[in-house]
Amino acid sequence: MNEIIVAMRDICKSFPGVKALDNVSFELKSGEVMALLGENGAGKSTLMKVLSGVYKRDSGEMEIMSRTYGDLTPKQAQAAGVAIIHQELNMCRHLSVMENIFLGKEKTRRGLLSNVEMEAEAKRILDELKIDISPSQIVGDLTISKQQMVEIAKALSTNAKILIMDEPTSSLTAKEIEDLFRIIRTLKASGHGIVYISHRLDELQHIVDRVTIMRDGQFITSMNYADTNLNEIITHMVGREIKEKFPRVTYPKGKEVFSVKNLNAGRMVRDISFSLYEGEVVGFAGLVGAGRTETTRAIFGVDPKQSGQIFLGGKEITINRPEDAIRAGVVLAPEDRKKDGLCTKLSIRHNLSLPNLDLICDKLGIVNSKKETELCEKAISDLTVKTAGVDGDAGNLSGGNQQKVVVGKWLARDSKVVIFDEPTRGIDVAAKVEIYNIINELKRRGIAVMFVSSEMPEILGIADRIIVMCDGRITGELSPNEATQNEILVLATRFESKVEAIAQ
Ligand SMILES: Nc1ncnc2c1ncn2[C@@H]1O[C@H](COP(=O)(O)OP(=O)(O)OP(=O)(O)O)[C@@H](O)[C@H]1O
Ligand SMILES: [Mg+2]
Repeated sequence: MNEIIVAMRDICKSFPGVKALDNVSFELKSGEVMALLGENGAGKSTLMKVLSGVYKRDSGEMEIMSRTYGDLTPKQAQAAGVAIIHQELNMCRHLSVMENIFLGKEKTRRGLLSNVEMEAEAKRILDELKIDISPSQIVGDLTISKQQMVEIAKALSTNAKILIMDEPTSSLTAKEIEDLFRIIRTLKASGHGIVYISHRLDELQHIVDRVTIMRDGQFITSMNYADTNLNEIITHMVGREIKEKFPRVTYPKGKEVFSVKNLNAGRMVRDISFSLYEGEVVGFAGLVGAGRTETTRAIFGVDPKQSGQIFLGGKEITINRPEDAIRAGVVLAPEDRKKDGLCTKLSIRHNLSLPNLDLICDKLGIVNSKKETELCEKAISDLTVKTAGVDGDAGNLSGGNQQKVVVGKWLARDSKVVIFDEPTRGIDVAAKVEIYNIINELKRRGIAVMFVSSEMPEILGIADRIIVMCDGRITGELSPNEATQNEILVLATRFESKVEAIAQ
């Protein structure tokens, strides 16, 4: 235990226009959890992709389990004992758990697939991790956290000794995070080395032994977690001290701009009524799965509504599809950026200009490229998106910078209502403050903001009013000045049976 199992030395890696890794060194020991920290675009994912053979390094060398490697293919990395669970999950949703675990390394007998053998092996691994999933379940039917556990099982089926987890908790509930931490502790106890990438710095204390900090593609420092503190970590990450984590500004309450009355849509949006006022941020709190995302989708016209009314500026409006909403001035920055928020194969320019064609086209419908460039450059500089240029693929941006583009495309418009669904997911501390400042700017312009977030400190720190949802219903409203995390939790877990019991 505690011998060095990974040593990366002087690793360099450039992409056109960006030096993503600049002489980075990194060490991991067996039986430890190493947090790899840094701002969006610092190079964390790239470094781990080099270690797992996804990217070829330009120079530098690596030692894995005492063997030296220069160029490394994904297959060699796997054989050397490295497994990576990527920032965005990569499962085949229509295949079973077992098929996903053995994808590309199927067990065969006399040229035929040996399902019996694979099923037994999959079951053994899942049982060992005490994961309650059957090998025959279809992955697309599982929750994100269960899918992630299948990814872990898949990694272990290759006998990996080095497990890299890139932002594993960004979409998990508190209970699911507990389960993940239990699995991490089991793996640690059996001598695995784990690299843990996360922007949720408050969770590090539960599992982390050491931290390595990167900034702008460079190695900054490695420390024992016990010998440091969050302020020091943040200062190393950002290169300066961040004084105010929640820069809240308040404006006098304006007129009512937007209201939803008795909205019903599917099982998870039940009789939702609320109003938003000019220059007000209303935080929607609740546990993951409370129906908040479904509510935003129904309002925006992505999912059909069964009943209910929507009013904008006192007048009833009809939103049957997103286009109706955008025309009326109601926009949504969705939660799942890869699926709903971005066209990853298109350039940053096109992602930013697509929903704004009405602003940049001339009368004949031809794009005025000067206006387009202005719009894009303004969005990029307002949000400090880290990129070599607007013509690169949005999919090549680091996770957090992708999120900034999702938010950025709406800022060019003169909207009346902006709906944010988990806008700071996967975003680093400094960029979070930037997003809060953008929200403040929207407030200043008199725009009403619906702000869905599962991070309670953030809701308490940013919202002017808090609405709590549970199981598709609104269970209460709180003022952030008086509310505590506990009160939010009580409302967030008030399931219908309890509501009825209270009503009786
Ligand atoms: N395939 C690629 N093509 C071009 N540039 C890339 C590619 N992959 C990464 N980059 C660039 O390399 C830099 C480092 O990105 P990386 O994804 O490693 O950051 P990160 O630290 O993981 O950030 P985040 O916390 O946002 O996920 C960024 O500037 C990014 O735009
Ligand atoms: Mg990353």
